[in-house]
Amino acid sequence: MAQQGFIMLRKYWYKEAVIYCLDVGNFLDGNSDGIGDFNGLASRIDYLNKLGISCIWLMPFYKSPRRDNGYDVMDYYAIDPDYGSFGDFVEFVRLARERGIRVIIDLVVNHTSDQHHWFQAARKDKKSRFRNYYIWSKEKPKDADKGIVFPGYQKSTWTYDEESGEYYFHRFYDYQPDLNIDNPEVREEICKIMGFWLQLGISGFRVDAAPFLIEMKSVDGGSGQQDDYEYLREFRDYLSLHEGDAIMLAEANVSPEDLAKYFGDGDRMNLLFNFILNQRIMLAFAREEVQPIIEGFRAVPPAPMGTQWANFLRNHDELSLDKLSEEERQEVFAAFGPKKEMQIFDRGIRRRLAPMLNGDQKRLEMAYSLLLSLPGTPVLRYGQEIGMGDDLSREERNSIRTPMQWSNEVNAGFSSVPPDKVPCPPIKGGDFGYEKVNVASQHRDPDSLMSKIARMISARRECPELGIGSYDFFETDNPAVLIHRCQWDGNVSIMVHNLSKKKTKVKIPIKEFKETNMVDLLADQEYEQSSAGNDQLDLEGYGYRWFRLGEYSF
Ligand code: GLC
Ligand code: CA
Repeated sequence: MAQQGFIMLRKYWYKEAVIYCLDVGNFLDGNSDGIGDFNGLASRIDYLNKLGISCIWLMPFYKSPRRDNGYDVMDYYAIDPDYGSFGDFVEFVRLARERGIRVIIDLVVNHTSDQHHWFQAARKDKKSRFRNYYIWSKEKPKDADKGIVFPGYQKSTWTYDEESGEYYFHRFYDYQPDLNIDNPEVREEICKIMGFWLQLGISGFRVDAAPFLIEMKSVDGGSGQQDDYEYLREFRDYLSLHEGDAIMLAEANVSPEDLAKYFGDGDRMNLLFNFILNQRIMLAFAREEVQPIIEGFRAVPPAPMGTQWANFLRNHDELSLDKLSEEERQEVFAAFGPKKEMQIFDRGIRRRLAPMLNGDQKRLEMAYSLLLSLPGTPVLRYGQEIGMGDDLSREERNSIRTPMQWSNEVNAGFSSVPPDKVPCPPIKGGDFGYEKVNVASQHRDPDSLMSKIARMISARRECPELGIGSYDFFETDNPAVLIHRCQWDGNVSIMVHNLSKKKTKVKIPIKEFKETNMVDLLADQEYEQSSAGNDQLDLEGYGYRWFRLGEYSF
């Protein structure tokens, strides 16, 4: 590879990354108090290293009343004592870095917890310098019932504060007052928070609720001021100045027309979660047809130089289907969340992927093969690698936030306290209970989902063109088969996925395919016929095959 290529790969490390999202409190309990912690997590760093991931996204671990899974921050400069000390945190980051694994953390600055000392001071005294950190109104604004994010669980976006006799704005729950981004002091605080954590060795942030962070509309109780995307550049400038290769990965589930503004000219967010594609992939799975995926890629704006889409199948929230048409949404509900208890907020499904796909390992493998080979940066979530399930008896989105299942020992090997002392117990019994689904048993089995996903991650990391290259999709003679090609710096990969349960043959409509010596890099099973000299390929039901031509092919 030319020198230039190596420089690109280092500079744009996040385009090549395989990100793994985890919740410290649910990963491993290192001190036997029933709650996961940094020491527990640190002891599993080699597990993560072996899985092959290259970047960990830590969900909020700040001091918090944890009424919204830690997204209600009480102190940005404190680690929740349940999770450990600063010493434990830094030790974990150091162990990760030693293995070439970067760490990014959640930056939750659209709002604070109502327990944050800024809000406490603001509500106590209207003259406090913190009053203007939040958004107040003397009267209840007319739009107070609009823009609710959690319908069925949240009543309003403006709540009366007894203490100061005014209403405060909160886009999310009433215990999460929104910060006033228009106040330069608030923006300074945000930069200071970023600087602090960067100094402790992290490589960037997942920017929580980005569209609401920059939202200006309600600052004065509902006038029509424009949202200010330039704030995103301001934060990015600060970040880059501090740590040249640190990144911001934003959560912005907005319409395709607005997405480009989050990238700017490559000077705002480095990465954006691709919510549009996520929803269209689920529609494609429901139909067993690839067209929605291709449409998903076409619907979003191109990512400017230095930016990238982050792909995912499920995150820690509901599977939001809000960007599909009513008809499409109903198709996905019917396929993957037919019962009312599986649905949430009128727009989503509160299940994990494995139960949605009926625990069918072949289909799950195909799904992860797709995630790990599509252009973009793949983001996995803890437990996906073993096909963990959900617990619908838990409230709201907590159904999918159960502890990691390490073994078939008590508490899934997550904690050694008596089971009734674990505040959030692991899933027990049934097809997805820890007795059946756990790391220990999959570790031993070369054909387990986990072993297969580890091989896919490793293959992906050998193919820089998937993250950094150009790509195209091919029309095929079978609507259930997706064929895409990625190219960069003399490397070419051709990926073939069968979304249908039916076995098939497919023609590879690429001229060069049979002329060049493409090698099989990975497949769902051994296929007799390799690519050389062929343009008709066999595919099992939910089969997948990765082919490659390049200087590193072997
Ligand atoms: C984001 C998080 C979600 C949280 C919300 C409020 O959407 O992903 O879990 O509830 O922000 O912070
Ligand atoms: Ca603990």
